[in-house]
Amino acid sequence: MSAPKRHYKIAAIPGDGIGKEVTPEALRALHAAAQRFGFTLEVQNFGFASAEYYAAHGMMMPANWKLLLEGVDAILFGAVGWPDVVPDHISLWGSLVQFRREYDQYVNLRPVRLMPGVTSPLANRRHGDIDMLIVRENTEGEYSQVGGRLFEGTPREIVMQETVMTRIGVDRIMKYAFEQAATRKKHLTAATKSNGIFIAMPYWDERLAEMAKNYPDIRWDKYHIDALAANFVLHPDRFDVVVGSNLFGDILSDLGPALTGTIGIAPSGNINPERVFPSLFEPVHGSAPDIAGQGIANPVGAIWAAQMMLEHLGEGDAAAAMLAAIEHGLADAQTRTRDLGGKADTRTAGEAITAAIASAA
Ligand SMILES: NC(=O)c1ccc[n+]([C@@H]2O[C@H](COP(=O)([O-])OP(=O)(O)OC[C@H]3O[C@@H](n4cnc5c(N)ncnc54)[C@H](O)[C@@H]3O)[C@@H](O)[C@H]2O)c1
Repeated sequence: MSAPKRHYKIAAIPGDGIGKEVTPEALRALHAAAQRFGFTLEVQNFGFASAEYYAAHGMMMPANWKLLLEGVDAILFGAVGWPDVVPDHISLWGSLVQFRREYDQYVNLRPVRLMPGVTSPLANRRHGDIDMLIVRENTEGEYSQVGGRLFEGTPREIVMQETVMTRIGVDRIMKYAFEQAATRKKHLTAATKSNGIFIAMPYWDERLAEMAKNYPDIRWDKYHIDALAANFVLHPDRFDVVVGSNLFGDILSDLGPALTGTIGIAPSGNINPERVFPSLFEPVHGSAPDIAGQGIANPVGAIWAAQMMLEHLGEGDAAAAMLAAIEHGLADAQTRTRDLGGKADTRTAGEAITAAIASAA
C-alpha cells in the first residue's frame, strides 16, 4: 500500500437535532488527532441535509451537491430526521440514501465492541468479551426497487418486491469481508438462509465458497440467519467478522450494538472501498428530538465514527489512539454521559476524549 497522503479534505454535515451537538465533538477529536499524529485536515461544514434546509428549499440537498463535495476524502455525518419534515422518510431518502447510492458505498461497516463503563444487557459479559465487525451489503439484495403492485384495491391485488443479487455485488462484499477478517482473528461468518430462500441464498453461499478459495488462511463458516441471531445472544464471543446481505446485515448490525449497550456509542461507516468516491462515517443513532438542544447527547458514537474515518484514510496510529481515548473516556464515570449513568454533558465527555488523544503516547 502506498504511503498515506496525510492531508485530508473532510465534509462535515451535522444534519438535525443532536447531530449538530455531537459532530463538533467528533471534529474536535479529529483536530487533536491531526495535531498529535502530524497530518492536516481541511474541514468544510455544510448545512444541507437538515430540516432548516428543507424548510427553505423544499428539498434535503441542493441539486449540485456532488459538485459541492468534489474532492473531499470523506464525509462526517451527524443525523437526519426532524418532526417538521414529514413523512419521516423524506430526510433519509433525500440525503443519506443519496450518498450511499451515488457514491457506491456498498459496504456498511459496524464495529461491535463491549466498551469499559458500558453494561451489556447480556449477563456476565465484560469489556473485551464481545468484539466483532458486521459487514453489511449496502446497495442491492432484498432492498431493491424491482417490483410493484398490480390490480390495487381489487381481489386480484398482487404485490411483489424482488431480491437482486449480482455476481459483482456479492463478490465484492465477500472480498471486503475476507480482507477485514485477514486483519483481525482470521475468522469469517456469513449469514444465510439457503434452506428457505432457496434460489438467492444458495447463490450467496456459492460465491462465499468461491471467494474463500482466495483466502486459505481464513477460517469461515455460515449460519442460517435465525440461528445466527440466537447465537449472537448466546455466544457472541464465537464471532469476529460477520458478513450479511442487505436485509440480514441490517438486522445483525442493530442486534450487535444492542448487545453492547447504548445506541449513543455505536458508529458506522458507509464505505466505497475502491475510493473512487468518498466514504461516509456517522453515528448509528438518529437526531433524538427528545433530548436535542439540552447538550446531554453522548458524543461517543460520532467520535467513534470519526475514528473509523481515520482508519479508512490510512491513519492507523491515530485511529488506534482515538479508540484507546474513547475507552479511557468511557471508563471514567466522571466523563460518561447520562445515557450511561454518568453526569457529564456532551462537551465534557467530548473534551475528555480529545484530551486523551492529545496526550497519547
Ligand atoms: N442515520 C440517521 O441519520 C438516523 C438514524 C436513526 C434515526 N434517524 C431519524 O432520527 C429521528 C429520531 O429517531 P428515533 O427517535 O427513532 O431514534 P434516535 O436514535 O434519534 O433516538 C432513539 C432514543 O435514543 C436516544 N439517543 C439517541 N442517540 C443518543 C445519544 N447520542 N445520546 C443519548 N441518547 C441518545 C434518544 O434520546 C431516544 O430516546 C427520526 O426522524 C429518524 O428517522 C436518523
